[in-house]
Amino acid sequence: MLTLTDVQAHYGSAHVLHGVSLEVQAGQIACLIGRNGVGKSTTLKTIMGVVSPSAGSIIFRGQRIDGLAPHLMAARGLAWVPEDRRVFASLTVEENIRVAAKAARRSGARRAADVLSFFPALVPKAKERAGSLSGGQQQMLAIARALASQPDLIMLDEPTEGLSPIIVETIRAGILDIRQRGASILLVEQNFKLALSVGDMFYVLSRGAVVFRGTRSELLAAPELIHEHLGVAKARQSRVSA
Ligand SMILES: Nc1ncnc2c1ncn2[C@@H]1O[C@H](COP(=O)(O)OP(=O)(O)OP(=O)(O)O)[C@@H](O)[C@H]1O
Ligand SMILES: [Mg+2]
Repeated sequence: MLTLTDVQAHYGSAHVLHGVSLEVQAGQIACLIGRNGVGKSTTLKTIMGVVSPSAGSIIFRGQRIDGLAPHLMAARGLAWVPEDRRVFASLTVEENIRVAAKAARRSGARRAADVLSFFPALVPKAKERAGSLSGGQQQMLAIARALASQPDLIMLDEPTEGLSPIIVETIRAGILDIRQRGASILLVEQNFKLALSVGDMFYVLSRGAVVFRGTRSELLAAPELIHEHLGVAKARQSRVSA
C-alpha cells in the first residue's frame, strides 16, 4: 500500500530524516513511535508532500508520490490528520465534512451521515458549529473529515494527545472501525498502550531513522528498546503486556 525507502528530509540546513524506510500493508495499522522531536510528524508531512524529500522514494498504491503536491494526495486516496486537528470553527460538523468531501475531488466521496457513523458520539452534534465542540469531539471531527474522501490510507498524528481516557477509548474504537472497513492506517502515537492495542506493525524512530521494525510480540520482547526509545518504565511496560 505504502512503501518508504531511505527517505531523507531537511528543514533548511537542518537534516531531520536520515533515511526512513517503512511499509504499511493493505488493511493494516502500522504504528510509528518514538520520543519527542525524532521526526515522526516530519515523516507524515514528507509522505503528504508538505515537506519535500531530499532523497529516497515514496510509493503509494504502486506509484511514486514523492515530489507531488499535497493537494493531489486526497484524490489518490491518501488522507492526513495533522497534530493540530484544525477544524473550521464557524462551520457545522456536517459542513466541515461536506467541504472536505468536495475538496477531495474523488469519486465515491462519503456522505456526512456515512462518515459520522465512525464516531456515533458526533451524530447528535451534526448541526452544531465545530467551534463549540470539546477537544475530543474536534479530534473525532478532524478524523471524520479525513474519512470523507474515502481514503485507502489515513495517517493520524497523535490523535489521542491531551484527551481524557473515555475519549481515548472512543478514538480507539474509531481507529479499529476504520481498519475493519478496509482502510490502512499509519498511526503516530505517544500513548504506547494504545499503540500496542491496535497496531499490526511497529516502527520505532530515533533521530530521523528507523531503529526497530517488528510485530507487537517482537516489540514486547525488546524491553530495553522500549525503555530507551519510548520512555516507558519497565514496571509499567510489564503491565501493558499483561
Ligand atoms: N518547520 C520546522 N522548521 C525547522 N525545524 C523543524 C520544523 N518542524 C520540526 N522541526 C524539527 O525537526 C525535528 C523533528 O520534528 P518532528 O515534529 O518531526 O518530531 P516529532 O517526532 O513529531 O516530535 P513530537 O513528538 O514532539 O511531535 C525536531 O528537531 C524539530 O525541532
Ligand atoms: Mg509530532
